[in-house]
Amino acid sequence: MDKTKIFAHRGASGYAPENTLEAFALAVSQKADGIELDVQLTRDGVPVVIHDETIDRVTSKTGYVKDYTLKELKKLTVMEKRFPAYPSSKIPTLEEVLDAVKASGIWVNIELKTGIYWYPEIEQKVAQIVQKCDMEHRVIYSSFNHYSIQKIKQIVPEAETAYLYSDVIWNVTDYAKNTKVDGIHPAVYHIKMADFLNEYIKSGLNVRVWTVNDTTDMKWLIEAGVTAVITNYPDVAVKIREQRENQNHAGK
Ligand code: G3P
Ligand code: MG
Repeated sequence: MDKTKIFAHRGASGYAPENTLEAFALAVSQKADGIELDVQLTRDGVPVVIHDETIDRVTSKTGYVKDYTLKELKKLTVMEKRFPAYPSSKIPTLEEVLDAVKASGIWVNIELKTGIYWYPEIEQKVAQIVQKCDMEHRVIYSSFNHYSIQKIKQIVPEAETAYLYSDVIWNVTDYAKNTKVDGIHPAVYHIKMADFLNEYIKSGLNVRVWTVNDTTDMKWLIEAGVTAVITNYPDVAVKIREQRENQNHAGK
């Protein structure tokens, strides 16, 4: 069984402003195996890394990402009060993030945020950037919009893909396999509701669970052998995984 990978949710967002170059650099230095990030499109059609459809929560301005040009967004600062050590972060483009993390060898889970606005051609634009950055073999595409995932598969048949979901889906493992998707990304709160995990792991699909911030959940999921946990605290998860490995060696 491969060891569970640790993905930093929106970067190491428990320590630095989410979805910024600073949060991604921290994830790399905390030895995460991967980062997860959210992509929306600007008015001029550039894939940018920001979670919400609006800029209200993370900047001092308001409005939709889709109504701002990249140049306008670049004038803004992403600031979170709880992280005063990062007073000048910016909204990065997808290309900037891929360029910044490429040398580290880290995996990138690109979440296409097409659940509210289905940005025109977002799948093509994102796939082009991934190709330009030569990151095809280290990218996993996911989305709550499963049509977006099928579109990615049409554009890049060999791309690694996963269905994201937060509610329980009937026979989700058959659904993913029948539609040729490589993985499932369930919410941690849903897999705790009933014994879904066993079925998921047995399916052989890649199972990456989000957002796993509780240490008890981290331990349980690593022990169960999920493909990855997606967490705001990659350093904590890495340590838990290390401790477990050391205990297993000592027990041999
Ligand atoms: O990709 C996992 C997770 O990021 C999905 O939820 O809302 O944090 O993007 P959200
Ligand atoms: Mg996300």
